[in-house]
Amino acid sequence: MQTDPAFKQMLLSYCQQVDAALERWLPLPQGPEARLQEAMRYSVIGGGGKRVRPVLVYAAGAALQVPPQQLDGIACAVEIIHAYSLIHDDLPAMDNDDLRRGRPTCHIAYDEATAILAGDALQALAFGILATDSHLTCPAQTRLDMIRLLAEASGSLGMAGGQAIDLAAVGKSISLQELENMHRLKTGALIRASVLLGAMSSPEASAATLAKLDTYSRCVGLAFQIHDDILDVVADTATLGKPQGSDMQQNKPTYPALLGLDGARKLAQQQHQQALAALEGLDSRADTLRQLSAYIVERGL
Ligand code: IPE
Ligand code: IPE
Ligand code: MG
Ligand code: MG
Ligand code: MG
Repeated sequence: MQTDPAFKQMLLSYCQQVDAALERWLPLPQGPEARLQEAMRYSVIGGGGKRVRPVLVYAAGAALQVPPQQLDGIACAVEIIHAYSLIHDDLPAMDNDDLRRGRPTCHIAYDEATAILAGDALQALAFGILATDSHLTCPAQTRLDMIRLLAEASGSLGMAGGQAIDLAAVGKSISLQELENMHRLKTGALIRASVLLGAMSSPEASAATLAKLDTYSRCVGLAFQIHDDILDVVADTATLGKPQGSDMQQNKPTYPALLGLDGARKLAQQQHQQALAALEGLDSRADTLRQLSAYIVERGL
């Protein structure tokens, strides 16, 4: 699937689309805040992120005939929340990692205080984009619903909550159900939001289609973190652009730790199949979503 040239081209063009939009939304470093703004740019632009969440926004929109230009703001908002979560995830108080996207992490390249503030400012920027983006042509109520969805996905019942569970679980043995809950929150919630936000911007988004996309996004969200855990074991640092073996070194509860590599791989495949099944009834415009689901469990980084 990853070698399908048309799919590769689609990924590339969505990445270029969001990169250009990120360049426009991120403040240019100037004045006394320049160092903070440089750190924000450093963590979002030019470091080789896969842009999976923006691509999911565009692909979900495409399934409902929303043109990419209308989705740029949403794509930037989810990527910027993600970048902020990575800056904080790498801090000494959290995973204490020094490499991200093949470069020194934000707190190494700058300093801890700047990294904390860069995360804070990026989070605020993401919500500012959703509130003000003039290319988002949906009704004001839909825009409010989007802001609420992103807030829930990022907050204590979403990403931040999952990160808290992750940190509290270090060195402890947790059940499979607890692990699944942690993954669904820390990674799944923002991936789900990416798909739903892309779809919600379409006037054609019926409740039935949104329900299908909801199931799809929950499956790919869980599969994404299972595969991330697998890569932490089987890939190498140069390929990953982040330190291989970080989870094991820190005694993190992961799927490979609980189920072994084969068990984790099987579960990721199961989620992929369930994601495909959820899209049944949607036409070929949903094919990029189908291919993305495969990519998520087969990718090498
Ligand atoms: C890594 O996310 C952190 C997780 C939530 C698993 P990605 O694998 O999407 O990281 P980038 O954006 O490509 O660097
Ligand atoms: C991070 O999970 C999830 C978030 C940043 C929300 P990991 O800690 O496994 O991510 P990596 O492996 O450092 O990218
Ligand atoms: Mg972590
Ligand atoms: Mg980490
Ligand atoms: Mg990881």
